[in-house]
Amino acid sequence: MTPPLDLQGRRIVLGLTGGIACYKVAELTRLLVKAGATVNVVMTEAAEQFITAVTLQALSGHPVLTSQWDAREPNNMAHINLTRGADAVLVAPASADFIAKLVQGRADELLSLMCLARPIATCPLLVAPAMNREMWDHPATQRNIAQLRLDGATVLGPGSGEQACGEVGDGRMLEPADLLADLVSFLSPKLLKGQRLLITAGPTFEPIDPVRGITNLSSGKMGFAIARAAHEAGAEVTLVAGPVHLPTPRGVRRIDVQTASQMHDTVLPLAARHGVFVATAAVADWRPASLSEHKIKKNGSKVAPTFELTENPDILAAVARLPDRPFCVGFAAESENLLEHAREKLTRKGVPLIVGNLGPATFGRDDNALVLVDAEGHRDLPAADKLTLARQLIGEIARRLNP
Ligand code: C5P
Repeated sequence: MTPPLDLQGRRIVLGLTGGIACYKVAELTRLLVKAGATVNVVMTEAAEQFITAVTLQALSGHPVLTSQWDAREPNNMAHINLTRGADAVLVAPASADFIAKLVQGRADELLSLMCLARPIATCPLLVAPAMNREMWDHPATQRNIAQLRLDGATVLGPGSGEQACGEVGDGRMLEPADLLADLVSFLSPKLLKGQRLLITAGPTFEPIDPVRGITNLSSGKMGFAIARAAHEAGAEVTLVAGPVHLPTPRGVRRIDVQTASQMHDTVLPLAARHGVFVATAAVADWRPASLSEHKIKKNGSKVAPTFELTENPDILAAVARLPDRPFCVGFAAESENLLEHAREKLTRKGVPLIVGNLGPATFGRDDNALVLVDAEGHRDLPAADKLTLARQLIGEIARRLNP
């Protein structure tokens, strides 16, 4: 299933200023266009030293503007026309010099002129700084960044690490995929603003001996998509993850655990400090009663080893029993009779909302179909990619929090 077009119908003005990170903006432009955005590129003279307007015109599919005297604009007012109706101006990379110009309200070339002339109430400004670490740490830059924020701009990054100059530190422009994710988040409706969300995701792993264990096929993708959607919706998100191979969604606090007991011991003290708890993890119901210190070996007798199992704590039910419990959402991963099992779980776990899905049909995949079951009845969320479903589920949770 194709991923959602996160920027469909959006118009983004992408400004480039002088810096070696310009080479990454070719990829960023491609990602923005692939996400459905209309991208109008504006470059300063310094940016043109690093990447050509031809490259960015080819990737954006629109003429690139580099001068306020560009006669192609019918009224010769590119600095006004570009931002009227635009959803955002993103300056990436934003050099130290350009940030200083923004702070001073200078307007001696097209990009700074356009930033100053943009309708401040409807066209937000985002900047992705990129510079040497000494330039970033300099009090002048830090002062300018603080002032830029006070003036209403959003600063994305910078990242930290190896720099083109060979030094290591703060000042790297964020990677294109991170800039895209931050822009999508920025433009998302803040349905969960001020809320804290706690999520469990993935399988658990219950060790038998130092090299073996009991686990299941949960990939964690649905839970990670919900964490991302909750962050986009403005929530503060804590994600408690079993063993999975997935990158942490931008802006989400992640705690890795292995066993159901560890997940339980991590979640319980955190739960009361959160307004919402979403239990997507496929927690193992049983664990070996004792852990063998050494690898269990074949002993030549052809008799298979046996071991006792003991029941794991039910994390969701334990959270739902807390006196100051958050709004609890459980998952039911079934292989049949989805609605019936989901209804049964609603009562047994004592939670206001159960989300049913067919486990074998969705484990490890990028798509899913959900059925939401509560005291009122049920609602189907038809087959879609997991991020789209996660966003719909966040909408449903927000509606229940603020009826
Ligand atoms: O029927 P079951 O107990 O597997 O219910 C699944 C729901 O309960 C899921 O939301 C799952 O994350 C949660 N769960 C849990 N702790 C367990 C078992 C399930 O939190 N030990």
